[in-house]
Amino acid sequence: MKKWILILPLIYGLGWMVPAWSQTDPAIEAKVDALLARMTLEEKIGQMNQYNGFWNFTGPAPAGGEAANKFDNLKSGMVGSMLNVRGVENVRKVQELALQSRLHIPLIIGFDVIHGYQTLSPIPLAEAASWDLAAIQRSAKVAATEAAASGINWTFAPMVDISRDARWGRVMEGAGEDPFLGAQIAAARVQGFQGRDLSDPLTIAACVKHFAAYGFAEAGRDYNTVDIGTSTLYNMVLPPFKAAANAGARTFMNSFNEINGIPATANALLQRDILKGQWGFTGFVVSDWGSIGELIPHGLARDGKQAAELAVNAGSDMDMESYNYLNHLKSLVESGQVDEALITDAARRILRVKFELGLFDDPYRYCDEERERTMIGNSDEMDAVLQMAKKSIVLLKNENALLPLPKSGKKVALIGPLAADKTSPLGSWRPAADDGTAISVLEGMERYSGNRLMHYPGVKLFEGEPAFVTELQINETDTTGFAAAVNGAKQADVVVMVLGEHGLMTGEGRSRAFIDIPGLQEELLKAVLAVNSQVVLVLMNGRPLAIDWEAEHVPAIVEAWHLGTQSGNAIAQVLYGDYNPSGKLPMSFPRSVGQVPIYYNHKSTGRPDRAGGGMVFWSHYNDESNDPLYPFGFGIGYSKMAYSDLRVTRGSGNSITVQVNVRNMGKLAGEEVVQVYIHDLVASVTRPVKELKAFEKVSLSAGESRTVRFTLDESSLGFYNNDGHWVFEPGDFMIMAGGNSVDVLQEKITIQ
Ligand code: NOJ
Repeated sequence: MKKWILILPLIYGLGWMVPAWSQTDPAIEAKVDALLARMTLEEKIGQMNQYNGFWNFTGPAPAGGEAANKFDNLKSGMVGSMLNVRGVENVRKVQELALQSRLHIPLIIGFDVIHGYQTLSPIPLAEAASWDLAAIQRSAKVAATEAAASGINWTFAPMVDISRDARWGRVMEGAGEDPFLGAQIAAARVQGFQGRDLSDPLTIAACVKHFAAYGFAEAGRDYNTVDIGTSTLYNMVLPPFKAAANAGARTFMNSFNEINGIPATANALLQRDILKGQWGFTGFVVSDWGSIGELIPHGLARDGKQAAELAVNAGSDMDMESYNYLNHLKSLVESGQVDEALITDAARRILRVKFELGLFDDPYRYCDEERERTMIGNSDEMDAVLQMAKKSIVLLKNENALLPLPKSGKKVALIGPLAADKTSPLGSWRPAADDGTAISVLEGMERYSGNRLMHYPGVKLFEGEPAFVTELQINETDTTGFAAAVNGAKQADVVVMVLGEHGLMTGEGRSRAFIDIPGLQEELLKAVLAVNSQVVLVLMNGRPLAIDWEAEHVPAIVEAWHLGTQSGNAIAQVLYGDYNPSGKLPMSFPRSVGQVPIYYNHKSTGRPDRAGGGMVFWSHYNDESNDPLYPFGFGIGYSKMAYSDLRVTRGSGNSITVQVNVRNMGKLAGEEVVQVYIHDLVASVTRPVKELKAFEKVSLSAGESRTVRFTLDESSLGFYNNDGHWVFEPGDFMIMAGGNSVDVLQEKITIQ
């Protein structure tokens, strides 16, 4: 047993000190005060109302249709923000309407800039596989620059939901299963979007979402109930949100799910106590699309009026598209059910961010036609997303060094419905990018090899004309393309097969119960393998897939996700060895869907192995291994990286130093993500068997060896107890280091 517990509220826990990042600018506060003093109750409520634009719905149409009097409400100051309005001309038009209001308060213009605006980066899950924080920050900056040049000043990103369930379509939008990696990436993205100065017309406000626990939707079904304990909430869900708040994120979005019986939109513990209270957050919280109205079907509110009351009391400052604030807040204040001080506080928060964006100095700050013409899709942006795409690719298997391919001398057949597709690589969440704007694998391979390639789709991408994007299923019946593909494979020395999910098979509302390679693609793969064993499988997908069969039978597998605009160029550079792949999985890949949720940082349980439970009575499946197919942190390159000489020593106070040697055993220079995990062996609340606590991406030339050092202190070795306090408990710790979460060197250390 541990002898004592140290509670560290000042730094990590309930933190009653106001941190530096949340301090407000006195000059701006004075302006906000002066404006609020002139505002009527209705005008304050107006700021709390957000309308969808005139096209481009990103949620269900509100009951009763779109607000009929949108224009009038804009002119009378009853709208604080619009979403889904883009392009300088359009933004200027709505801003002009808003400025006709009595106090001429400008709108803040929001948009889902999730992985780029028109020039697309890889989907966020793919970017997370790079473990390259500088590249991720640069990618967010590119997205901000293009969006800002198009009139937008607020993105609904980063999405920082931890998720362990590959069935959930929105895993593509986050950073995977780990809170430590997720927290680092959350901060990098916020810094990329917001830069150092929010009033710079090329930076935009970030919106951290979805607060909170949306990624734990039961059974991976979008919008489903969340039922997690406090330990998971504090240790797994909240850390990336807190990191984003600490990085200065100016807005948060709440989430559709309930947690502990209270929908997040009406959850005062999350929004008032933790976010605005303990974390000292001074920005504002926007609801998710219609989530205030959804308190009714949740069964928490009897009608829209009660929904508005519950949401505003719980700390939701702005209503996205449910109109319940607009329709009910005034009478709720007049009847005393809502304190006017809460309305003033919400309006204050919204106005503060508008002042910080410089919108009061110049409401058209983001409306510059010249910038719009020159700052979207330029060569710097293309280069940034290409670099990001290369770094996001994960090499999963490479038997007998089948890769890299020579650029000449071998006949290559390129097969698969995604091989020449210029839309799927764009991925989900790309409302401002046009179909067909990605570089395909075919184009990339021809460009980098200088050769024309034989190309056979094998199966069609879709069957029939889908009525709606969710019906975009990959062809399940038409095998007429098989013969040509198989024949092409027979004549080739090597076959590259590009298979996976269409770009819109992941994202919001796109959960899947089966997470294999969809449609006839697996059948096609088997037919090709039967005639040519030299197959390189390039996967395009927005979630971990169950590829047990492929992992056993295909000699080389490249996880290429949905890589965005430069997809084909990045993939070609990896296939031909112009870039040595360095990505590591941010989410475990299951062997079969029955293992989901599967994640590396699980608990031990009381019966973790056969030794304790005999043949039957231990925690296992009778028909499947407990282990993932590919674990968190896994990824190989063209050079083998060898680990040795782990040394763990005590440092000052309760800190420890971890050092490990890594050597590039290959003939090519390469990068390696050196990962450090801990296991707190005995604690007052059970701890995961492994927790990532540090990592560094190092470049090593061929044959080079390097000792990489890390320091871990109480801020890494502790955890949140069930009261939300950060505690450090001295005792025994297993310290592990390696190139993924399974293959590690380990050493035990006692901290007394
Ligand atoms: C609903 C999604 O959950 C959210 O992430 C998005 O930002 C809004 N719709 C606006 O499109």
